Amino acid sequence: MRSILNITDLTLDELDDLIATAEDIIAHPQKYRHACQGKKLATLFFEPSTRTRLSFEAAMLELGGAVLGFSEASSSSASKGESVADTTRVVGCYADIIAMRHPKEGAPLVAARKAGVPVINAGDGGHNHPTQTLADLLTIWRKKRTFSGLTVGLCGDLKFGRTVHSLVGAMARYPDVRFVFISPEELKIPQYVIDDELAPRGIPYREVATMEEVMSQLDVLYMTRVQQERFFNEADYIRLRDTYILTPEKLAPAKKDLIVMHPLPRVNEISVRVDDDPRACYFDQVLNGKYMRMALILKLLEVEV
Ligand code: NCD
Repeated sequence: MRSILNITDLTLDELDDLIATAEDIIAHPQKYRHACQGKKLATLFFEPSTRTRLSFEAAMLELGGAVLGFSEASSSSASKGESVADTTRVVGCYADIIAMRHPKEGAPLVAARKAGVPVINAGDGGHNHPTQTLADLLTIWRKKRTFSGLTVGLCGDLKFGRTVHSLVGAMARYPDVRFVFISPEELKIPQYVIDDELAPRGIPYREVATMEEVMSQLDVLYMTRVQQERFFNEADYIRLRDTYILTPEKLAPAKKDLIVMHPLPRVNEISVRVDDDPRACYFDQVLNGKYMRMALILKLLEVEV
């Protein structure tokens, strides 16, 4: 029995296998239609979500399994004071696998120790979001057919953006990847991400304050939302939220094969005028996320197709 709390819980070979499975699901969806018949996925979402929860549910339904769960803490016994440990121990009696989102960093780790079934971290506070990274990796793979040698720009809230931390953890393991971190001073990438993922491997990175100064160098531009819910001070959020707005004009000097990504939800970070640009991939990420979650569920439930 295995849980996935961090993207680095998966080896590069396992990531390759998940991508291969996802591509096979895309090519032959009917093969997988009954793969998880009789199995149940519980989605325990203590924090709002549209894509992640619905995509886990769609993934399990398309595998022929069933889903149960809750979409806000207020409708669970957490509102009566029940601990994460107890809630998951209970749900582990009903479900074969759990996807959990929680505002507290580390909550899915606590859950994994108690559940008795595999737990997937569907986002813990400002920490990690490994299944968004699976969606991101499949998107990059389908556009580039490689991860090596790419210059990856990450822009916006790099401090609280959990999708950023997980994506750096994944991409840092491929050869010759370079990072450009584009953020205001207050929202810089946490030092622990640099210390854990980049420094030990000597991976080159730059920190800059504007996207204009690096646009022409990037192979991937990963935009993010300023994470309002993690701010202590509303005035700081308002001051920082519109620091970066990607427009067609700003994309003018970019490479023709740049890919523009965003985990969504978007607020103002990308003008809707960019949506028709062939380089815009953020709605591809949504669909790719479902396929990768299907592949991950199959793996953790040890289902052979
Ligand atoms: C992200 C998240 O929840 O961290 N959303 C998602 O799962 N696609 C990004 C965000 O909320 O900004």
